[in-house]
Amino acid sequence: MAERKKVTLPTLYKKYREGEAITMLTCYDYPTAYFQDEAGVDMVLVGDSLGMTMLGYDSTLPVTMDDMIRHAQAVRRGAPHVWLIGDMPYMTYQPSVESAIRNAGRFMAEAACDAIKLEGGREMADRMAGIVAAGIPAMGHLGLTPQSASALGGFRLQGKGAETARRIVEDAKILEEAGAYSILLELVPDRVCQVITERANIPIISLGSGPQASGQLLIYHDMFGLYPKFTPKMARVYGNAGEVILNGLKDYVAEVTDGSFPGEENYFGMKDEEFDELKRGLEG
Ligand code: KIV
Repeated sequence: MAERKKVTLPTLYKKYREGEAITMLTCYDYPTAYFQDEAGVDMVLVGDSLGMTMLGYDSTLPVTMDDMIRHAQAVRRGAPHVWLIGDMPYMTYQPSVESAIRNAGRFMAEAACDAIKLEGGREMADRMAGIVAAGIPAMGHLGLTPQSASALGGFRLQGKGAETARRIVEDAKILEEAGAYSILLELVPDRVCQVITERANIPIISLGSGPQASGQLLIYHDMFGLYPKFTPKMARVYGNAGEVILNGLKDYVAEVTDGSFPGEENYFGMKDEEFDELKRGLEG
């Protein structure tokens, strides 16, 4: 089979122009990255959601740049062909344009990412513009922005009312004008997503924001029942790997306990003459 071609900005824009949906998933580790690349996923986000899905924190706020780089490197090793996006963690871009450029550069230099993503609207437009001016493709993130969950009143639908929806619509244009190559819309009403997509000249990606966008994102752990605390409504479950794993682990515990593991096929023997010599050597 021919090797998959590397996904580039022209590849993504071609899909966008031709109305072909762009696929995007989160990913945090090497084996999952390998499978996602094999499956033909276009864009892979090493999200700071790894703070919850991989590190067991209650929010994304404790995640550091070093955490992100370590996971992004593993994902790049597993998925050399995808468009790889490093998610800027909390307080690595909010303090200043300089901090934003410096930390975005780390994703590119240390983890071979293709782009970064940052949360926020008009208040982050100068960070977006600075990163893009430094030659780094940057994705915006509007709607439910988990790093601001406290200010937004929790993990809930954003832009339900006309006034808040209008602000999100305006923010999308501001980010586009600041140079964003794409914008992720998380948990806004489907018609708000449609309006933004129709007004945009860049791909709009939906996470729980309906089908009218230029592409879709899912959190990998939600797709396969791998996050034990909850599965959000916006996720579709494609298989319950969590249940398969838990049942396998219970079987393992039971089989070691009752002696049925390991079986003969799980270990190696030794020739009698070698074993006899070993014993003689130990006795002498
Ligand atoms: O960290 C992440 O996975 C994200 C998604 C929720 C969009 O930013």
